[in-house]
Amino acid sequence: HGTSKINTQGHLEIGGCDVADLAAQFGTPLYIVDEALVRQRASEYVEAFKASGLRFQVAYASKAFSVMAMCAIAEQEGLSLDVVSDGELYTAMQAGFPAERIHFHGNNKTPEEINMALDAGIGCFVVDNFMELQLLNALAGDKGKKVNILLRITPGVEAHTHDYISTGQQDSKFGFDLGNGAAKQAIQEALALPNLIILGVHSHIGSQIFEVEGFRMAVDKVADFAVAIRNELDLTFKVINLGGGFGIRYVEGDTPLPISEYVAAITGAIITNFTNAEFPLPEIWVEPGRSMVGDAGTTLYTVGTSKNIPGVRKYIAVDGGMTDNPRPALYQSKYEAVLANRANDAVEETVSIAGKCCESGDMLIWDLELPKAENGDLLAVFCTGAYNYAMASNYNRIRRPAVVFVKDGQADLAVKRESLENIVCNDVIPARLQKSPL
Ligand code: LLP
Repeated sequence: HGTSKINTQGHLEIGGCDVADLAAQFGTPLYIVDEALVRQRASEYVEAFKASGLRFQVAYASKAFSVMAMCAIAEQEGLSLDVVSDGELYTAMQAGFPAERIHFHGNNKTPEEINMALDAGIGCFVVDNFMELQLLNALAGDKGKKVNILLRITPGVEAHTHDYISTGQQDSKFGFDLGNGAAKQAIQEALALPNLIILGVHSHIGSQIFEVEGFRMAVDKVADFAVAIRNELDLTFKVINLGGGFGIRYVEGDTPLPISEYVAAITGAIITNFTNAEFPLPEIWVEPGRSMVGDAGTTLYTVGTSKNIPGVRKYIAVDGGMTDNPRPALYQSKYEAVLANRANDAVEETVSIAGKCCESGDMLIWDLELPKAENGDLLAVFCTGAYNYAMASNYNRIRRPAVVFVKDGQADLAVKRESLENIVCNDVIPARLQKSPL
Protein backbone atom coordinates (compact mmCIF):
# COMPACT_ATOMS: atom_id res chain seq x y z
CA HIS A 1 0.00 0.00 0.00
CA GLY A 2 1.03 3.64 -0.21
CA THR A 3 4.32 3.95 -2.08
CA SER A 4 5.60 0.56 -0.82
CA LYS A 5 6.76 -1.97 -3.38
CA ILE A 6 9.34 -4.69 -3.90
CA ASN A 7 12.23 -3.60 -6.13
CA THR A 8 14.26 -5.63 -8.61
CA GLN A 9 16.69 -6.70 -5.85
CA GLY A 10 13.80 -8.19 -3.91
CA HIS A 11 14.05 -5.45 -1.33
CA LEU A 12 11.14 -3.55 0.17
CA GLU A 13 11.09 0.01 -1.06
CA ILE A 14 9.08 2.83 0.56
CA GLY A 15 8.82 6.33 -0.86
CA GLY A 16 11.33 5.33 -3.52
CA CYS A 17 13.91 4.37 -0.85
CA ASP A 18 15.33 0.86 -0.56
CA VAL A 19 14.94 -0.08 3.10
CA ALA A 20 18.31 -1.88 3.08
CA ASP A 21 19.89 1.47 2.23
CA LEU A 22 17.89 3.13 4.99
CA ALA A 23 19.10 0.53 7.47
CA ALA A 24 22.69 1.12 6.38
CA GLN A 25 22.35 4.89 6.60
CA PHE A 26 20.24 5.32 9.73
CA GLY A 27 20.57 2.00 11.58
CA THR A 28 17.79 -0.11 13.06
CA PRO A 29 15.29 -0.18 14.63
CA LEU A 30 14.03 2.58 12.40
CA TYR A 31 10.60 4.14 11.99
CA ILE A 32 9.99 4.94 8.32
CA VAL A 33 7.17 7.34 7.44
CA ASP A 34 5.73 7.37 3.91
CA GLU A 35 5.17 11.10 3.61
CA ALA A 36 3.09 10.88 0.43
CA LEU A 37 0.66 8.52 2.16
CA VAL A 38 0.27 10.85 5.15
CA ARG A 39 -0.47 13.72 2.78
CA GLN A 40 -2.91 11.53 0.85
CA ARG A 41 -4.83 10.68 4.03
CA ALA A 42 -4.97 14.35 5.00
CA SER A 43 -6.35 15.32 1.62
CA GLU A 44 -8.88 12.46 1.69
CA TYR A 45 -10.36 14.06 4.82
CA VAL A 46 -10.24 17.58 3.44
CA GLU A 47 -11.74 16.62 0.06
CA ALA A 48 -14.52 14.59 1.67
CA PHE A 49 -15.52 17.53 3.84
CA LYS A 50 -15.37 19.92 0.91
CA ALA A 51 -17.76 17.62 -0.94
CA SER A 52 -20.27 17.96 1.92
CA GLY A 53 -20.52 21.70 1.53
CA LEU A 54 -20.28 22.13 5.31
CA ARG A 55 -17.73 24.34 7.00
CA PHE A 56 -15.17 22.13 8.73
CA GLN A 57 -11.86 21.67 10.47
CA VAL A 58 -9.87 18.44 10.32
CA ALA A 59 -7.70 18.41 13.42
CA TYR A 60 -4.92 15.87 13.40
CA ALA A 61 -4.90 14.17 16.83
CA SER A 62 -1.20 14.57 17.47
CA LYS A 63 -1.19 12.03 20.31
CA ALA A 64 -0.94 9.39 17.57
CA PHE A 65 2.48 10.68 16.49
CA SER A 66 3.62 14.03 17.78
CA VAL A 67 6.89 15.17 16.28
CA MET A 68 7.73 18.54 14.77
CA ALA A 69 8.02 17.22 11.20
CA MET A 70 4.52 15.77 11.45
CA CYS A 71 3.16 19.07 12.76
CA ALA A 72 4.78 20.79 9.77
CA ILE A 73 3.03 18.43 7.37
CA ALA A 74 -0.31 18.90 9.15
CA GLU A 75 0.14 22.65 8.81
CA GLN A 76 0.97 22.42 5.11
CA GLU A 77 -2.07 20.23 4.49
CA GLY A 78 -4.32 22.85 6.06
CA LEU A 79 -5.19 20.71 9.08
CA SER A 80 -5.83 21.87 12.61
CA LEU A 81 -4.10 20.14 15.50
CA ASP A 82 -5.39 18.48 18.64
CA VAL A 83 -2.98 18.47 21.58
CA VAL A 84 -3.43 16.89 24.99
CA SER A 85 -0.45 18.06 27.02
CA ASP A 86 2.10 20.82 27.35
CA GLY A 87 4.55 18.53 25.56
CA GLU A 88 2.35 18.17 22.49
CA LEU A 89 1.57 21.90 22.57
CA TYR A 90 5.26 22.73 22.82
CA THR A 91 6.05 20.40 19.90
CA ALA A 92 3.41 22.13 17.76
CA MET A 93 4.61 25.59 18.69
CA GLN A 94 8.26 24.74 18.07
CA ALA A 95 7.20 23.52 14.63
CA GLY A 96 5.59 26.91 14.01
CA PHE A 97 2.06 25.51 13.94
CA PRO A 98 -0.47 28.38 13.92
CA ALA A 99 -1.83 28.64 17.45
CA GLU A 100 -5.34 29.57 16.34
CA ARG A 101 -5.67 26.13 14.72
CA ILE A 102 -4.68 24.27 17.91
CA HIS A 103 -7.30 22.60 20.11
CA PHE A 104 -6.43 21.54 23.64
CA HIS A 105 -7.91 18.34 25.08
CA GLY A 106 -7.48 16.50 28.34
CA ASN A 107 -9.34 15.52 31.48
CA ASN A 108 -6.82 17.03 33.89
CA LYS A 109 -5.14 20.04 32.33
CA THR A 110 -2.87 21.66 34.88
CA PRO A 111 -2.92 25.41 35.57
CA GLU A 112 0.56 25.58 34.02
CA GLU A 113 -0.66 23.90 30.84
CA ILE A 114 -3.70 26.17 30.62
CA ASN A 115 -1.57 29.28 31.11
CA MET A 116 0.86 28.11 28.44
CA ALA A 117 -2.02 27.59 26.00
CA LEU A 118 -3.56 30.96 26.89
CA ASP A 119 -0.24 32.70 26.29
CA ALA A 120 0.15 30.89 22.97
CA GLY A 121 -3.34 32.03 21.97
CA ILE A 122 -4.68 28.64 20.91
CA GLY A 123 -7.96 28.44 19.05
CA CYS A 124 -10.05 26.35 21.41
CA PHE A 125 -10.07 24.50 24.71
CA VAL A 126 -12.12 21.32 24.88
CA VAL A 127 -13.35 21.53 28.45
CA ASP A 128 -13.79 18.18 30.13
CA ASN A 129 -15.20 18.83 33.62
CA PHE A 130 -16.67 21.34 36.06
CA MET A 131 -13.41 22.17 37.79
CA GLU A 132 -11.79 23.01 34.48
CA LEU A 133 -14.63 25.39 33.59
CA GLN A 134 -13.93 27.44 36.70
CA LEU A 135 -10.15 27.21 36.41
CA LEU A 136 -10.06 28.18 32.73
CA ASN A 137 -12.42 31.09 33.31
CA ALA A 138 -10.28 32.35 36.21
CA LEU A 139 -6.94 31.97 34.44
CA ALA A 140 -8.28 33.60 31.26
CA GLY A 141 -9.62 36.45 33.42
CA ASP A 142 -6.19 36.93 35.03
CA LYS A 143 -4.80 37.54 31.56
CA GLY A 144 -7.72 39.67 30.42
CA LYS A 145 -8.63 37.10 27.76
CA LYS A 146 -11.80 35.47 26.54
CA VAL A 147 -11.40 31.95 25.20
CA ASN A 148 -13.30 29.68 22.85
CA ILE A 149 -14.45 26.41 24.33
CA LEU A 150 -16.14 23.22 23.32
CA LEU A 151 -17.70 21.15 26.07
CA ARG A 152 -16.80 17.50 25.86
CA ILE A 153 -19.93 15.47 26.32
CA THR A 154 -20.26 11.73 26.81
CA PRO A 155 -23.03 10.86 24.41
CA GLY A 156 -23.69 7.40 25.80
CA VAL A 157 -22.51 5.70 22.64
CA GLU A 158 -19.72 3.31 23.36
CA ALA A 159 -17.81 1.70 20.52
CA HIS A 160 -16.39 -1.74 21.15
CA THR A 161 -14.65 -1.68 17.80
CA HIS A 162 -17.48 -3.39 15.95
CA ASP A 163 -20.62 -3.11 18.01
CA TYR A 164 -22.07 -0.14 19.80
CA ILE A 165 -23.79 0.03 23.12
CA SER A 166 -26.19 2.88 23.55
CA THR A 167 -26.60 3.38 27.26
CA GLY A 168 -28.15 6.15 29.29
CA GLN A 169 -24.86 6.88 30.90
CA GLN A 170 -21.39 5.88 29.85
CA ASP A 171 -18.89 4.86 32.49
CA SER A 172 -15.98 7.00 31.37
CA LYS A 173 -13.48 9.35 32.95
CA PHE A 174 -14.05 11.84 30.14
CA GLY A 175 -16.60 14.56 29.68
CA PHE A 176 -20.02 15.66 30.86
CA ASP A 177 -22.71 13.00 30.74
CA LEU A 178 -25.59 13.64 28.42
CA GLY A 179 -27.87 11.18 30.16
CA ASN A 180 -27.83 12.55 33.71
CA GLY A 181 -28.09 16.24 32.99
CA ALA A 182 -24.43 17.06 33.65
CA ALA A 183 -23.96 18.29 30.08
CA LYS A 184 -26.82 20.77 30.34
CA GLN A 185 -25.61 21.93 33.74
CA ALA A 186 -22.13 22.47 32.28
CA ILE A 187 -23.58 24.67 29.52
CA GLN A 188 -25.48 26.68 32.13
CA GLU A 189 -22.35 27.15 34.23
CA ALA A 190 -20.26 28.10 31.21
CA LEU A 191 -22.88 30.65 30.10
CA ALA A 192 -22.50 32.33 33.47
CA LEU A 193 -18.70 32.54 33.24
CA PRO A 194 -17.68 35.80 31.56
CA ASN A 195 -14.39 34.70 29.99
CA LEU A 196 -15.66 31.60 28.19
CA ILE A 197 -17.19 31.62 24.71
CA ILE A 198 -19.12 28.42 24.03
CA LEU A 199 -18.61 27.37 20.41
CA GLY A 200 -20.37 24.04 20.84
CA VAL A 201 -19.78 20.48 21.96
CA HIS A 202 -17.38 17.62 21.40
CA SER A 203 -17.94 13.88 21.38
CA HIS A 204 -15.48 11.01 20.88
CA ILE A 205 -16.84 7.47 20.89
CA GLY A 206 -13.74 5.29 20.66
CA SER A 207 -10.86 4.26 18.46
CA GLN A 208 -10.14 1.79 15.63
CA ILE A 209 -13.82 1.83 14.62
CA PHE A 210 -14.78 0.24 11.30
CA GLU A 211 -18.48 1.00 10.94
CA VAL A 212 -20.34 4.26 10.53
CA GLU A 213 -23.26 3.35 12.78
CA GLY A 214 -21.66 4.61 16.01
CA PHE A 215 -20.85 7.97 14.46
CA ARG A 216 -24.43 8.31 13.21
CA MET A 217 -25.76 7.50 16.68
CA ALA A 218 -23.45 10.08 18.21
CA VAL A 219 -24.59 12.73 15.71
CA ASP A 220 -28.24 11.96 16.51
CA LYS A 221 -27.62 12.41 20.23
CA VAL A 222 -25.55 15.55 19.86
CA ALA A 223 -28.13 17.05 17.51
CA ASP A 224 -30.97 16.34 19.95
CA PHE A 225 -28.89 17.99 22.66
CA ALA A 226 -28.17 21.02 20.46
CA VAL A 227 -31.88 21.49 19.81
CA ALA A 228 -32.73 21.12 23.50
CA ILE A 229 -30.10 23.68 24.49
CA ARG A 230 -31.31 26.13 21.85
CA ASN A 231 -34.91 25.78 23.03
CA GLU A 232 -34.19 25.83 26.76
CA LEU A 233 -31.17 28.13 27.06
CA ASP A 234 -31.32 30.12 23.82
CA LEU A 235 -27.77 29.12 22.88
CA THR A 236 -27.01 27.97 19.33
CA PHE A 237 -23.96 25.73 18.85
CA LYS A 238 -21.74 26.89 16.00
CA VAL A 239 -19.38 23.92 16.14
CA ILE A 240 -19.88 20.19 16.59
CA ASN A 241 -16.72 18.12 17.02
CA LEU A 242 -17.14 14.38 16.49
CA GLY A 243 -13.69 13.30 17.62
CA GLY A 244 -11.60 10.63 15.94
CA GLY A 245 -11.61 6.87 15.95
CA PHE A 246 -11.69 5.97 12.25
CA GLY A 247 -10.17 2.52 11.83
CA ILE A 248 -7.30 1.29 9.69
CA ARG A 249 -6.27 -2.09 8.33
CA TYR A 250 -3.50 -3.66 10.40
CA VAL A 251 -4.06 -7.27 9.34
CA GLU A 252 -6.29 -9.30 7.09
CA GLY A 253 -9.77 -9.31 8.55
CA ASP A 254 -9.67 -5.64 9.55
CA THR A 255 -12.33 -3.95 7.48
CA PRO A 256 -12.09 -0.16 7.67
CA LEU A 257 -14.11 1.95 5.24
CA PRO A 258 -12.58 4.57 2.99
CA ILE A 259 -12.16 7.88 4.85
CA SER A 260 -14.68 9.49 2.49
CA GLU A 261 -17.39 7.11 3.76
CA TYR A 262 -16.88 8.00 7.42
CA VAL A 263 -16.97 11.68 6.57
CA ALA A 264 -20.04 11.26 4.35
CA ALA A 265 -21.87 9.39 7.12
CA ILE A 266 -21.12 12.14 9.63
CA THR A 267 -21.86 15.08 7.36
CA GLY A 268 -24.99 13.36 6.02
CA ALA A 269 -26.32 12.75 9.53
CA ILE A 270 -25.52 16.33 10.51
CA ILE A 271 -27.31 17.78 7.50
CA THR A 272 -30.38 15.58 8.03
CA ASN A 273 -30.66 16.21 11.76
CA PHE A 274 -30.04 19.94 11.73
CA THR A 275 -32.11 20.64 8.64
CA ASN A 276 -35.05 18.75 10.13
CA ALA A 277 -34.71 20.79 13.33
CA GLU A 278 -34.48 24.04 11.33
CA PHE A 279 -31.15 24.68 12.99
CA PRO A 280 -28.36 26.60 11.21
CA LEU A 281 -25.83 24.04 9.94
CA PRO A 282 -22.90 23.97 12.36
CA GLU A 283 -19.24 23.79 11.44
CA ILE A 284 -18.02 20.19 11.77
CA TRP A 285 -14.70 19.28 13.32
CA VAL A 286 -13.11 15.83 13.51
CA GLU A 287 -9.90 14.64 15.15
CA PRO A 288 -8.38 11.66 13.33
CA GLY A 289 -5.09 10.35 14.67
CA ARG A 290 -4.55 6.71 13.74
CA SER A 291 -6.11 6.99 10.27
CA MET A 292 -3.87 9.97 9.42
CA VAL A 293 -0.52 8.29 10.10
CA GLY A 294 -1.04 4.65 11.06
CA ASP A 295 -0.58 2.89 7.75
CA ALA A 296 2.12 5.34 6.62
CA GLY A 297 4.51 4.01 9.25
CA THR A 298 6.78 0.96 8.97
CA THR A 299 9.27 -0.20 11.58
CA LEU A 300 12.47 -1.76 10.30
CA TYR A 301 14.36 -4.16 12.57
CA THR A 302 17.45 -6.31 12.23
CA VAL A 303 17.08 -9.99 12.99
CA GLY A 304 19.40 -11.16 15.78
CA THR A 305 19.15 -14.43 17.65
CA SER A 306 16.69 -17.27 17.32
CA LYS A 307 15.55 -20.11 19.51
CA ASN A 308 13.92 -23.23 18.19
CA ILE A 309 11.88 -25.42 20.53
CA PRO A 310 11.28 -28.47 18.33
CA GLY A 311 7.62 -29.25 17.95
CA VAL A 312 6.65 -26.15 19.92
CA ARG A 313 7.78 -22.88 18.43
CA LYS A 314 10.63 -20.96 16.84
CA TYR A 315 11.41 -17.54 18.24
CA ILE A 316 13.19 -14.93 16.13
CA ALA A 317 14.46 -11.93 18.08
CA VAL A 318 14.77 -8.44 16.64
CA ASP A 319 16.69 -5.41 17.90
CA GLY A 320 13.60 -3.59 19.20
CA GLY A 321 10.29 -4.65 20.71
CA MET A 322 7.87 -3.35 23.29
CA THR A 323 9.98 -0.23 23.80
CA ASP A 324 9.26 0.95 20.26
CA ASN A 325 5.89 -0.79 19.90
CA PRO A 326 4.09 -1.58 23.15
CA ARG A 327 0.77 -2.24 21.42
CA PRO A 328 1.02 -6.03 21.11
CA ALA A 329 1.91 -6.31 24.80
CA LEU A 330 -0.72 -3.76 25.87
CA TYR A 331 -3.64 -4.58 23.62
CA GLN A 332 -2.74 -7.90 21.96
CA SER A 333 -2.57 -5.90 18.73
CA LYS A 334 -1.77 -7.80 15.56
CA TYR A 335 0.71 -6.76 12.89
CA GLU A 336 1.90 -7.99 9.52
CA ALA A 337 5.57 -8.14 8.58
CA VAL A 338 7.90 -9.23 5.80
CA LEU A 339 11.56 -10.08 5.50
CA ALA A 340 12.42 -6.77 3.89
CA ASN A 341 15.73 -7.70 2.24
CA ARG A 342 14.30 -10.93 0.77
CA ALA A 343 10.72 -9.91 0.14
CA ASN A 344 10.29 -12.24 -2.85
CA ASP A 345 11.61 -15.36 -1.10
CA ALA A 346 9.16 -18.16 -0.53
CA VAL A 347 7.69 -18.76 2.91
CA GLU A 348 9.59 -21.56 4.64
CA GLU A 349 8.55 -21.50 8.27
CA THR A 350 6.21 -20.12 10.90
CA VAL A 351 8.02 -18.13 13.55
CA SER A 352 7.19 -15.76 16.40
CA ILE A 353 8.89 -12.38 16.57
CA ALA A 354 10.33 -11.52 19.96
CA GLY A 355 11.60 -8.17 21.19
CA LYS A 356 14.80 -7.76 23.16
CA CYS A 357 13.33 -6.66 26.48
CA CYS A 358 13.74 -8.76 29.61
CA GLU A 359 10.11 -9.66 29.73
CA SER A 360 8.29 -12.70 28.34
CA GLY A 361 5.41 -10.51 27.17
CA ASP A 362 7.72 -8.65 24.83
CA MET A 363 6.47 -10.37 21.68
CA LEU A 364 5.70 -8.38 18.54
CA ILE A 365 4.05 -11.01 16.34
CA TRP A 366 2.96 -14.56 17.02
CA ASP A 367 2.98 -17.15 14.23
CA LEU A 368 4.30 -15.20 11.29
CA GLU A 369 5.07 -16.98 8.02
CA LEU A 370 8.51 -16.05 6.74
CA PRO A 371 11.38 -17.27 4.59
CA LYS A 372 14.12 -18.69 6.81
CA ALA A 373 15.33 -15.55 8.60
CA GLU A 374 19.03 -15.30 9.42
CA ASN A 375 20.97 -13.04 11.71
CA GLY A 376 21.36 -9.73 9.86
CA ASP A 377 18.17 -9.97 7.81
CA LEU A 378 15.77 -7.04 7.94
CA LEU A 379 12.22 -7.37 9.23
CA ALA A 380 9.67 -4.70 8.29
CA VAL A 381 6.56 -4.44 10.48
CA PHE A 382 3.75 -2.50 8.82
CA CYS A 383 1.20 0.04 10.07
CA THR A 384 3.30 1.36 12.93
CA GLY A 385 2.80 5.06 12.25
CA ALA A 386 0.29 5.69 15.03
CA TYR A 387 0.75 5.07 18.75
CA ASN A 388 4.19 3.51 18.29
CA TYR A 389 6.84 6.23 18.45
CA ALA A 390 4.25 8.15 20.49
CA MET A 391 4.11 5.37 23.07
CA ALA A 392 7.77 4.36 22.95
CA SER A 393 9.66 4.06 26.22
CA ASN A 394 13.18 3.63 27.54
CA TYR A 395 12.35 0.44 29.43
CA ASN A 396 15.53 -1.53 30.01
CA ARG A 397 17.22 1.77 29.14
CA ILE A 398 16.80 0.96 25.47
CA ARG A 399 17.25 4.00 23.24
CA ARG A 400 14.32 5.22 21.16
CA PRO A 401 14.82 4.64 17.43
CA ALA A 402 15.25 7.31 14.79
CA VAL A 403 12.36 8.40 12.56
CA VAL A 404 12.87 9.10 8.86
CA PHE A 405 10.40 10.59 6.40
CA VAL A 406 10.73 9.17 2.90
CA LYS A 407 9.38 10.64 -0.33
CA ASP A 408 10.37 10.43 -4.00
CA GLY A 409 13.59 8.58 -3.29
CA GLN A 410 14.69 10.97 -0.56
CA ALA A 411 15.02 10.05 3.11
CA ASP A 412 15.17 12.77 5.75
CA LEU A 413 15.74 12.39 9.44
CA ALA A 414 12.76 13.65 11.46
CA VAL A 415 13.88 12.38 14.87
CA LYS A 416 17.45 11.42 15.74
CA ARG A 417 18.16 8.08 17.33
CA GLU A 418 18.63 8.53 21.07
CA SER A 419 22.20 8.36 22.26
CA LEU A 420 23.58 6.72 25.38
CA GLU A 421 24.19 10.26 26.70
CA ASN A 422 20.45 10.92 26.24
CA ILE A 423 19.76 7.93 28.45
CA VAL A 424 21.51 9.47 31.46
CA CYS A 425 21.09 13.17 30.65
CA ASN A 426 18.48 13.76 33.34
CA ASP A 427 20.10 11.52 35.95
CA VAL A 428 21.74 13.16 38.93
CA ILE A 429 23.79 11.44 41.60
CA PRO A 430 22.93 13.28 44.81
CA ALA A 431 26.05 14.65 46.47
CA ARG A 432 25.70 12.40 49.50
CA LEU A 433 25.84 9.34 47.21
CA GLN A 434 28.91 10.43 45.32
CA LYS A 435 32.30 8.92 45.90
CA SER A 436 34.02 11.23 48.33
CA PRO A 437 37.12 12.93 46.96
CA LEU A 438 40.36 11.43 48.15
N1 LLP B 1 -9.96 12.65 19.95
C1 LLP B 1 -9.98 12.22 21.21
C2 LLP B 1 -10.67 12.98 22.21
C3 LLP B 1 -9.31 11.03 21.55
O1 LLP B 1 -9.35 10.60 22.80
C4 LLP B 1 -8.62 10.30 20.55
C5 LLP B 1 -7.89 9.08 20.88
C6 LLP B 1 -8.61 10.81 19.25
C7 LLP B 1 -9.31 11.98 18.98
C8 LLP B 1 -7.90 10.12 18.12
O2 LLP B 1 -8.42 8.85 17.90
P1 LLP B 1 -7.92 7.97 16.64
O3 LLP B 1 -8.41 8.66 15.39
O4 LLP B 1 -6.45 7.92 16.70
O5 LLP B 1 -8.55 6.64 16.86
N2 LLP B 1 -3.17 4.08 22.33
C9 LLP B 1 -4.32 3.45 21.72
C10 LLP B 1 -5.28 4.47 21.14
C11 LLP B 1 -5.79 5.46 22.16
C12 LLP B 1 -6.72 6.47 21.56
C13 LLP B 1 -6.98 7.56 22.53
N3 LLP B 1 -7.77 8.64 22.06
C14 LLP B 1 -3.84 2.49 20.65
O6 LLP B 1 -2.64 2.37 20.47
O7 LLP B 1 -4.66 1.84 20.01
